[in-house]
Amino acid sequence: MTIAKRKFDTLVIGAGGAGLRAALQLSQAEAAVAVISKVFPTRSHTVAAQGGINAALGNVTDDHWHWHMYDTVKGSDYLGDQDAIEYMCRAAPNTVIELEHYGVPFSRLENGRIYQRPFGGQSQNFGGEQAARTCAAADRTGHAMLHTLYQQNINARTHFFDEFFAVDLLKNERGDILGALAFDIESGEKIIIEAKTTLIATGGAGQLFRTNTNASINTGDGLAMALRAGIPLQDMEFFQFHPTGVAGKGMLISEGVRGEGGYLVNCEGERFMERYAPHAKDLASRDVVSRAIAVEIREGRGCGPNKDYVLLKVDHLDPEVIKKRLPGIRDISLTFLGIDPIEAPMPVFPTAHYTMGGIPTNRYAQVVVPVGTGAEEEIPGLYAAGECACASVHGANRLGGNSLLDIVVFGRAAGKHIIDYLKTHRQHKPLPDETVEQAVQRLARWEQPASAVGHSATVESVSALKAEFQQVMEEKCGVFRTEEVLAEGVQAVKSIQERLKHAVISDYSRIFNTARVEALELENLVELGLATVISALSRQESRGAHSRVDFPKRDDEHWLRHSLYYQQDNRLSYKPVRTRPISVDTFPPKERVY
Ligand code: FUM
Repeated sequence: MTIAKRKFDTLVIGAGGAGLRAALQLSQAEAAVAVISKVFPTRSHTVAAQGGINAALGNVTDDHWHWHMYDTVKGSDYLGDQDAIEYMCRAAPNTVIELEHYGVPFSRLENGRIYQRPFGGQSQNFGGEQAARTCAAADRTGHAMLHTLYQQNINARTHFFDEFFAVDLLKNERGDILGALAFDIESGEKIIIEAKTTLIATGGAGQLFRTNTNASINTGDGLAMALRAGIPLQDMEFFQFHPTGVAGKGMLISEGVRGEGGYLVNCEGERFMERYAPHAKDLASRDVVSRAIAVEIREGRGCGPNKDYVLLKVDHLDPEVIKKRLPGIRDISLTFLGIDPIEAPMPVFPTAHYTMGGIPTNRYAQVVVPVGTGAEEEIPGLYAAGECACASVHGANRLGGNSLLDIVVFGRAAGKHIIDYLKTHRQHKPLPDETVEQAVQRLARWEQPASAVGHSATVESVSALKAEFQQVMEEKCGVFRTEEVLAEGVQAVKSIQERLKHAVISDYSRIFNTARVEALELENLVELGLATVISALSRQESRGAHSRVDFPKRDDEHWLRHSLYYQQDNRLSYKPVRTRPISVDTFPPKERVY
């Protein structure tokens, strides 16, 4: 069967903020760009980002990009690469102004300037008073940004393949990436998209865990595609648990709530963060607040009949502040908890939120891989940006408000670098048949009728396996980790991976390609689950979000380095952190107190 083929200068996989920002840069430069997305672009997960985007505009408190850089390095527990962090923090003010000019409807101060709220881990003057650095469009900042970027792309005539699922990257023998095989989810028809350059911008993998803040689409497809193409994934052991998800359900209750003056209490009504972070209190960084909540509950000071959550209070605030600055949070609380936060506190618990590891990149968003002893090389024409990438600006713990910044800064950086690359790489490289065949085979596995696989005791359903997998990840690789529990996690995920080989989608559900998509997504998730637990088992220290009960201290002597996980043989290697910034002095590791 012949497969339809289209050729573009650039293929962007993923239509969230990073993909759209890059595509815009390229379309405006008259490159031929295809953006492929498994959902309609404005349903990408960027739409769910609530609290805002960090930039040292200084509209509310004095601020400076260098202070933002310091906070980000400290927040990362010194695992972030300081050249990339400097690049991001310096670029932030202009990037936000640029968004404003594109039409993002930011909330305003009385004087007309962009509204900025305090967020966790932000300080003035290198660790001094709380800064207010997070630019917000009420509590729907991601929604405002995504819609604006999409409209700008339509205006710039970016070509969209909406509701197409990317199966795998296509490559030649040298490892050059030449595009991807995808299929139209509605019709099932396959398509080869050949490209001179490819940008992976598929977002994170929050669906690794049962309770998460993420959209169901966040299955880490681009990360798994990279792994299958032989590219290692960096720092996968670092997964962020947001302190305030709706208890038992997981939906995000923005850090903006604490930024507006909300605070956490335990069953004794105690404002317990004062004990864990005497200075920053409820606005300490996320790893610190999530651990504090978990400890309160473990020590019996949780709330409710099962003592399994804490309460987030805003009922002391002026109701007008809640209505104006936190309307989405009030909606979520009313819908999922039946509680009006103007009147009563909200039950919350830490919930899986953000993939800090990912495809290793430099600050131009080029994918980089190790070659020989210690050296790194870019893969020509391959880029990654946003949550699927690891630049690494978040290190072991991301600061709230830095993810919307990351996607636009590095989406833009990718676009700019690609434009230059295309000037000297004008031709498409020949596409070998074997790479297409391999990708087609991956898809064919889920095209067989259930009856061909055979109904036997070994046949299992994809959705049941997915639920079991997410439960395993939650139990074996959560906020607190030990060698024993992680080792059980590795075995459990390996066994699920084996069982997935025999799973089927029923003949009935095959009528809908969404069942195939679910199966392909689960394959991706299981690969990434393995990367996460194996990387977590190996790192024998506690740093940022990776908290090992059996190794409670940070160990800079042995572990101030990035992990790299390879799919082949589940192998790990390590590489140094880039501690040298571009133009300022290094921030050396210090004890991290808030
Ligand atoms: O809490 C929040 O609004 C989430 C922001 C973020 O993850 O950056």
